[in-house]
Amino acid sequence: MIIEHLCASNPIHIAHAADLIKQGELVAIPTETVYGLAANALDPAAVAKIFAAKGRPQDNPLIVHILSIEDAAPLVTHIPEQALSLAKTFWPGPLTIVLEKSALVPEIVSAGLPTVALRAPSHPAARALLRACGLPLAAPSANKSGSPSPTTSQHVVDDMSGRIAAVLDGGPCDIGVESTVITLATPIPMLLRPGGVSLEDLKIVLGELRISEAVTRELQAHEHAQSPGMKHRHYAPKAELTLVHGSFEEITRYAKEQDADGVLDFGENPEEQARQLFAKLREIDALGLRKVFVRCPGKQGIGLAVYNRLLRAAEFREVTLVSKQ
Ligand code: TXA
Ligand code: MG
Repeated sequence: MIIEHLCASNPIHIAHAADLIKQGELVAIPTETVYGLAANALDPAAVAKIFAAKGRPQDNPLIVHILSIEDAAPLVTHIPEQALSLAKTFWPGPLTIVLEKSALVPEIVSAGLPTVALRAPSHPAARALLRACGLPLAAPSANKSGSPSPTTSQHVVDDMSGRIAAVLDGGPCDIGVESTVITLATPIPMLLRPGGVSLEDLKIVLGELRISEAVTRELQAHEHAQSPGMKHRHYAPKAELTLVHGSFEEITRYAKEQDADGVLDFGENPEEQARQLFAKLREIDALGLRKVFVRCPGKQGIGLAVYNRLLRAAEFREVTLVSKQ
């Protein structure tokens, strides 16, 4: 199966993509965060194709994409007040809200959990497709399980060639890291994955908010993961990556001592770091590098998401040359 290359700004191509989705096929779509691999969320056979195409573990649930909070009603048992406030402030946009699911959501989507993750994306092509289908769309990031998420249509083709029907090309993604995932299915709201919406901004709306331990450390085999995605190997290039706290000069010196063949420094702008992150991780492999040291970014704003992804890409190897930021 050759991937059909469709243009995200062409209404005829959007209509064709909607037909493919309604026929139970997979279409990769641009979102403001990363490219997603979309299927009809209400069709278990179509959703099963997502797991097969990605090589995704069956216990890792999918995010369901909708246009607005009104579309959430049939998919959940109830919509808590805090979900309304979050949706009002951050939707459409890079925030995923986990709620108790209704029977309409197939088991395969939620990987057997009693909850469902919902997000209203802001990307015009994703919204046009949702409107044209009139269906909720299950969509994980459109990469092979374990590799860096795709932020261009070329990344999607590199990973998904022969596995999916089509890709809607909307150019490079604006934000570059995935959505923030928060659960309201716990007594106190909990951040499960940092992302495009910052922790600081969430706190303004919610007041009390806990942070899952899996955000900044490795879970042990016996520990329960509130978000299954956090326990799987993630974002890792083939090269051995180490996250280093220190100045560029210190890291360069250290890298020489350690016989590394690359130093990755994303500069000081957290938004730019996020935008570049996954393309840089893919480049490391394209260049055939073996051992790379990455300068640790700050953890404020979207920086926390960049840090969380880099930590996983480095399989939790972390070295401090100076006091941590
Ligand atoms: O920005 C994004 O979120 C992108 C775009 C395509 O929307 N999607 C994305 O999906 O990153 P994925 O599948 O790569 O990551 C979904 C994360 C995983 O960590 C998964 O474990 C978690 O959300 N998740 C999904 N459903 C959940 C649930 N019911 N409870 C807890 N965590 C859930
Ligand atoms: Mg993913």
